[in-house]
Amino acid sequence: MINIKSAQDIEKMKAAGKVVEDTLLLLGKSIRVGMTTEELNRIAEDYIRSQGAYPTCLHYNGYPKAICISVNEVVVHGIPGPRKIQDGDIVSCDVCATLNGFVGDATRTFCVGNVPEEVRKLVEVTKECFFEGIKYARPGYRVSDISKAIQTHAESHGYGVVRELTGHGVGRQLHEDPEVPNFYSPHARQRLQAGMTIAVEPMITMGKREIWQLDDGWTITTRDGKPAAHYENTIAITDDAPILLTCSEEIG
Ligand code: MF3
Ligand code: CO
Repeated sequence: MINIKSAQDIEKMKAAGKVVEDTLLLLGKSIRVGMTTEELNRIAEDYIRSQGAYPTCLHYNGYPKAICISVNEVVVHGIPGPRKIQDGDIVSCDVCATLNGFVGDATRTFCVGNVPEEVRKLVEVTKECFFEGIKYARPGYRVSDISKAIQTHAESHGYGVVRELTGHGVGRQLHEDPEVPNFYSPHARQRLQAGMTIAVEPMITMGKREIWQLDDGWTITTRDGKPAAHYENTIAITDDAPILLTCSEEIG
């Protein structure tokens, strides 16, 4: 069942989304070679709580930390810990915050120091995939139109599109209906409608698209060990262009 949000709900989601965006901006300014992912987690958690919000991932289905940090070959759900950020790493920070009963969810992949040109390109194209997808985030289109646009853009660069994880509805809960795949799926037939709020989150691999889950029960890596990038925003469908609830950038 897809929950349609009222205008007041959307205002609350803007506030939650702003906490998420500001956390990501802070992480981007703070990230340094030699820092551990645990230190970044601490910065994010302290900031989220300072805004009167709660880090939604913490204890979500038993997840142990405030945010997810996924370095290089880790696609998503990396658990912050003693891993030190190295020169040339790409670091995806996936931040969720709950404020006044509503959730914001967004991810940025940061390039640290001397990242090879071809890996930078992966990060750039992953972000482009999001903006290609949301061209179809309007009433009249189906969820699968977003999916197809993301897939087409990624594959035109020879990249892989992860199948096992998808975007999702978001609202009072972190994960609501509908699923928003990053590849064309005939099941994603739902028509988009004003008041729907969804997280669109391309997860794109430089090599093959197959993934692997580590024994910690969370960390997802590429099977071939090649890098992956992730970019995500929570958006609200309106009668016109979508509102980006976790991103102040102009729609490209
Ligand atoms: N943005 C992630 C997702 O949509 C959030 C994961 S929180 C976790 O799946 F607790 F499950 F890690
Ligand atoms: Co998400």
